[in-house]
Amino acid sequence: MVDYYRLVWPLVRQLDSERAHGLAITALKNRLLPIPEPFGDPRLVSRVWGLTFVNPVGLAAGFDKNGEVIDPILEQGFGFVEVGSVTPKAQPGNPKPRMFRLVDDRGVINRLGFNNQGIERVAERLERRLSSPGRMPGVVGLNLGKNKDQSDAIADYVAGIERGRDLADYLVVNVSSPNTPGLRALQGRAALTSLLVAARQAARGKTLLVKIAPDLTEDELRDICDVVLEHGIDGIICGNTTLSREGLTSRHRDEQGGMSGEPLFRRSTEVLRRVYELTTGRVPLVGVGGVASGAQAYAKIRAGASLVQLYSGLVYGGIGLALRINQELSRILEKQGFASITDAIGADHR
Ligand SMILES: Cc1cc2nc3c(=O)[nH]c(=O)nc-3n(C[C@H](O)[C@H](O)[C@H](O)COP(=O)(O)O)c2cc1C
Repeated sequence: MVDYYRLVWPLVRQLDSERAHGLAITALKNRLLPIPEPFGDPRLVSRVWGLTFVNPVGLAAGFDKNGEVIDPILEQGFGFVEVGSVTPKAQPGNPKPRMFRLVDDRGVINRLGFNNQGIERVAERLERRLSSPGRMPGVVGLNLGKNKDQSDAIADYVAGIERGRDLADYLVVNVSSPNTPGLRALQGRAALTSLLVAARQAARGKTLLVKIAPDLTEDELRDICDVVLEHGIDGIICGNTTLSREGLTSRHRDEQGGMSGEPLFRRSTEVLRRVYELTTGRVPLVGVGGVASGAQAYAKIRAGASLVQLYSGLVYGGIGLALRINQELSRILEKQGFASITDAIGADHR
């Protein structure tokens, strides 16, 4: 398929990046973008948490915060979509501008601060979709956060889980956004234990994942992995945006917020690798951070990811990126002699 995004990129980069994101949502919602021929390869199909993924490439949280474009995204070739982060009450997020392209580094800095329409509106949208016979096959996750003005974090996550648990295939407790004061402190052993015990109970057996930061120390990672294994959490998303600014050259590199995209690839993949070791491959992992090619998706899978996700790659590659990654992954698997993507998971550790 023609890579039309290359043609529009010179225009897109002139726009404020949050405005460009808004236009992308509008275009997807109104089916204004070309829909590619469906691409399927049985080697890319896998079962994780009892769910069938037609391919391992998912849209990371933050792009479709309000669950407005799930089917259009699946039509573009993603195997799954993670809606959110959603908080119990709607909130506007931080003042604009709050999202910046690091063009020379192919990265992004954002400090959106969980701008979203609140769980009720999102839940109603998910309910409508579930009762619509025309919906696309594909896995849908719901990523939950807490409101900025809420001091009882557990209450917010539990409220989100209770409202959303029957409306998505999996739920995510996001304790790793750097843009909500105090949120990342929930990754500490004691706080995380209380939170995940309450979340596990509220989820009533629904697949429950935790999303962690890429900035944790070895001890912190060890604690998190222990808590996950001990309390039956189903998976770990590795991970969120980083506070690091290592090696950046772009104009906006000193903006506050979380950094993502290409410069995050190496660090996030090393964290993923370590988490796979610490959990001895017993917990499915989702590898996120800087994926923009089939080779990078493959590297995450070999490091231990059962699935991958991306967001920032779309800023530079357009929505057609998911399809291109899947096509490339398919060629890599064939070349490497893997009959299934599942066989490649954690291959670096063998
Ligand atoms: C603009 C923007 C908004 C994001 N919002 C969220 C969010 O609401 N919740 C969340 O868990 N992660 C959020 N993320 C983090 C992504 O889901 C992902 O973990 C991170 O960007 C690394 O992946 P990438 O390098 O492919 O972008 C956001 C990222 C970006 C760039």
